[in-house]
Amino acid sequence: MSEKIIIFDTTLRDGEQSPGASMNTEEKIQIALALERLGVDVMEAGFAASSNGDFEAINKIAQIVKNSSVCSLARCVENDIIQAAKALEPAEKKRIHTFIATSPIHMEFKLKKSPDEVLKTAVKNVKLAKSLCDDVEFSCEDALRSDISFLKEMADAVYEAGASTLNLPDTVGYRIPQEMYEFFKIMSEYTKGKLILSAHNHNDLGLATANTLAAILGGARQIEVTLNGLGERAGNSALEEAVMAIKTRKDAFSNFYTQINTKEIYPSSKLLSNIIGVWPQPNKAIVGKNAFTHESGIHQDGVLKHPETYEIMKASDIGLVQDNLILGKHSGRAAFKDKLKILGFNLNDEELNRAFNDFKELCDKKKEVFDDDLIAIISAESVKIEEKFKLINLQVSDCTQALASAAISLECDNEIIKEAAIGDGVIDAIFKVIDRASKVNGFLQDYKVNAVSKGKDALAQVSVKVSFEGQKAIIGNGLDLDTMQASAKAYLAALNSYISMNK
Ligand code: KIV
Ligand code: ZN
Repeated sequence: MSEKIIIFDTTLRDGEQSPGASMNTEEKIQIALALERLGVDVMEAGFAASSNGDFEAINKIAQIVKNSSVCSLARCVENDIIQAAKALEPAEKKRIHTFIATSPIHMEFKLKKSPDEVLKTAVKNVKLAKSLCDDVEFSCEDALRSDISFLKEMADAVYEAGASTLNLPDTVGYRIPQEMYEFFKIMSEYTKGKLILSAHNHNDLGLATANTLAAILGGARQIEVTLNGLGERAGNSALEEAVMAIKTRKDAFSNFYTQINTKEIYPSSKLLSNIIGVWPQPNKAIVGKNAFTHESGIHQDGVLKHPETYEIMKASDIGLVQDNLILGKHSGRAAFKDKLKILGFNLNDEELNRAFNDFKELCDKKKEVFDDDLIAIISAESVKIEEKFKLINLQVSDCTQALASAAISLECDNEIIKEAAIGDGVIDAIFKVIDRASKVNGFLQDYKVNAVSKGKDALAQVSVKVSFEGQKAIIGNGLDLDTMQASAKAYLAALNSYISMNK
């Protein structure tokens, strides 16, 4: 009989730890809804005790998500576990995930605790978690560099204390697949199905997904993954890679299945990229821009004769509709709604009205609207937060010999603010004039511009990373046919996000 591999998604926790990937609450909710549509079994929504923002996001997600279990991370510390339980309180299905490091190097230098103290701390906190939540996962941080006899002792102890899942992470991405397979084999033979064993692999040597698949063959029945392989340092094992490997290589994984709706992979990956302003490398497996494109003539010829000559998966299996020239100026609402459904968006009437207006506005300015344009405008619309400062008008002038200038009108609390500034180049002038008008100073840490689709009239998608008033940097995204307008929108989005988080 085929066994289910539990998909534990940690895009919103380990993924969010990736540099430049921090999200505001509204953005996290949109990702959580995408994960629910994907059909993940468990979503780790954050680390409740780490900040008020994380607590609030987990709590909101717990109120909204119904079909996936919502989880919070907690160290083996009483307050962390209490905060996790409080944040998860409204969830229909919930899990507390508590962890402590078990490798000699972590115990000695980081925790400064003996193995016995670590074991006692784990047991005490798993018991506490179990008293507050029925479903408890325990992780031995840096398990793959831990002493296996200590891990066995730990497995027995946390099982007795009430944990039902034991996660054994390769925290530093050190192992190779053969070792991973053998490790899980030993641990699964030892635990004899009492605990669900989970694999959580980092990608420092580029082996995260290979290790995750090896762990399954060795006995893991839960895998911890992120969209686009986002995560600490080189990232985590990518959800799309592990899931598509299990689906595509039914021969090698004949005993296993996942409940992921793979057609949601592409829209979810795009949504995440659009939110964090970080796109997977073009040759990234499954979701990279080139993953389903054939450049060489020989390959193109082969694919035309028989797709399987060079294709092991269908683009449509991940929800990627190719040759996606779509509706234009004269397209009606019904066709528009249908197209959104194909792209994986189920909008309510109000959202549909807004999206349709945005689409019509875009059609007035741009002849051809592609799927990627639609995904970008809908993603941008779906994560809009309260706008303290709203862009009314922006004018720029660029003199090659002299300083560039920008003049702006912003609406704030029903009043119009007008300002002008000069800068070293137009972008500098735009950001300076926003600082001046809002009286909030920002330091630009990163600026990226990306063409959403093809053609000279492609939408510009600008992503900025700004630290306001010396605080933690925030990402803002802006979308417009004009790169200057998109830049102003991106900077204002970061500013509004900063204000909403610090109200
Ligand atoms: O990589 C790791 O060890 C983790 C744990 C907190 C599960 O992310
Ligand atoms: Zn991790």
